[in-house]
Amino acid sequence: MTRLLVTGGAGFIGSNFVHHVIDHTDHDVTVLDKLTYAGNRASLDGIPADRLSFVHGDITDVAVVDELVAQADAVVHYAAESHNDNSLHDPKPFLDTNIVGTYTLLEAARRHGTRYHHISTDEVYGDLELDDPARFTESTPYNPSSPYSSTKAGSDLLVRAWVRSFGVQATISNCSNNYGPYQHVEKFIPRQITNVVRGIRPKLYGAGENVRDWIHADDHSSAVLTILERGAIGETYLIGADGERNNKQVVEQILELMGQPRDAYDHVTDRAGHDLRYAIDSSKLRAELGWQPRYSDFDAGLAATIEWYRANEAWWTPAKDATEAFYASKGQ
Ligand code: NAD
Ligand code: DAU
Repeated sequence: MTRLLVTGGAGFIGSNFVHHVIDHTDHDVTVLDKLTYAGNRASLDGIPADRLSFVHGDITDVAVVDELVAQADAVVHYAAESHNDNSLHDPKPFLDTNIVGTYTLLEAARRHGTRYHHISTDEVYGDLELDDPARFTESTPYNPSSPYSSTKAGSDLLVRAWVRSFGVQATISNCSNNYGPYQHVEKFIPRQITNVVRGIRPKLYGAGENVRDWIHADDHSSAVLTILERGAIGETYLIGADGERNNKQVVEQILELMGQPRDAYDHVTDRAGHDLRYAIDSSKLRAELGWQPRYSDFDAGLAATIEWYRANEAWWTPAKDATEAFYASKGQ
């Protein structure tokens, strides 16, 4: 049996990963999470106490990190400031958590010789033109656009340097846009679903032509577990499920699935520097490690996600008003 240290395990993708590990393996999990506005302890409800240990702490805290990494067989690092719009408003927490936090974890992994997997994003590659047939691969040059994505790119480069300079046993994955349960209402899909539940019209940035490559969070989890178990040290793997859609298509699909007219949404102020299109080529992960996504039907996954938000209003209600007040102050 193995003990995994999962940072950011009370966040969206981290909590999905913890549920996945508990359901599909016999590993035990320690979660280290600061419980920022984006963390929610309730996202881990239902996990047996003898399989999960929860530590409320900061990944920039050297003493806490050192002790937990020393006790772990592997670290899976999800904790981050994750929202582009927030990074345009106040970049500082992104530097602290995404850069200094990753550095703190890498130094602990180095001291203790601990296996380390780094969770990152396709946004490190910048964006593609709408009519460009290309997709991102592991050899696409880094070209991040926002304060968020530049700090994620910086953290990836730290990992590469710690592998080469100090022999840290690390792998990296860069995944496309996730959807599914436990996602904060600031993000695109949950924001629109919860708006419709509350009788508010969905909000589309600009013309809505920007394309994102959607993957269900549970498929991201199975890919990370695969890389942790069989990935080659020092390698980067791109994770994606061929889910390209533009934002207008997604809003219209949400409205239709929720019984509303497909045009019952508003165009609002666009995001500064808004990336046009992300698209992932995940051939390396599929060919070398044999991974396949299970949620190949986006519409079915979206319908299940809508049902989850309808059934779990108590989970998202506490964050909804403050989130909408922030957007309203930006004309979004
Ligand atoms: P999230 O914002 O939902 O959760 C982040 C979690 O990290 C929260 O629980 C928060 O409390 C915790 N955290 C933040 N700062 C911390 C600190 N200093 N110390 C300890 N804990 C801290 O984020 P998410 O969407 O679940 O993203 C998780 C990871 O996956 C991030 O690294 C992100 O870059 C990456 N990623 C996200 C997506 C996506 O579509 N959301 C896609 C690809 C990669
Ligand atoms: O690509 C992976 C990235 O996906 C992750 O690294 C980030 O952590 C994650 O937040 C996500 O970034 P995006 O900026 O793509 O996600 P977001 O949900 O904020 O927005 C998705 C798209 O929807 C984007 O084009 C902006 C648009 N949008 C967003 C909101 C909140 C709207 O049109 N209206 C909205 O209300």
